Amino acid sequence: MLFLSTVALAAAPQGAGPEAGSAANGKVLFRKVGCFECHGYAGQGGRAGAPIAGLPLRAQDLIRYVRHPAGEMPAYTEKVVSDRELEDIYAYIRTLPSPKPVKDIPLLNKIKERQ
Ligand code: HEC
Repeated sequence: MLFLSTVALAAAPQGAGPEAGSAANGKVLFRKVGCFECHGYAGQGGRAGAPIAGLPLRAQDLIRYVRHPAGEMPAYTEKVVSDRELEDIYAYIRTLPSPKPVKDIPLLNKIKERQ
């Protein structure tokens, strides 16, 4: 009994209000509604989508973008993914590491040094 309640407490987001998204749920949604198909499992971008990991966006910006994308990305209506779910997806994207700048990839630096 004590063990169970400890787990429940540990799983609750620390000091987060009801409007704060759940990254764990966002991870599931990111796959379920298909963001990963274009943006990659790690938000790194891919053949069809831009990198979204590490973007300096606010949750509201992300929601606005997903409702009215500027380019080739399909728009998602509330029926497909709610604002609440997008907040979770946002929370998940925030946990993804930004891609490393090329200068921080050791192997590429070695190649450069040889040239
Ligand atoms: C069919 C491919 C595709 C899917 C599915 C998709 N995207 Fe995109 N997304 C793109 C492309 C391509 C861009 C680059 C700009 C454009 O063409 O709209 C983009 C851009 C974005 C941007 C803006 C990036 C920037 O640099 O400002 C965000 C944020 C984003 N997508 C989030 C999402 C989320 C969240 C989902 C899932 C709900 C999703 N996308 C699903 C293709 C996709």
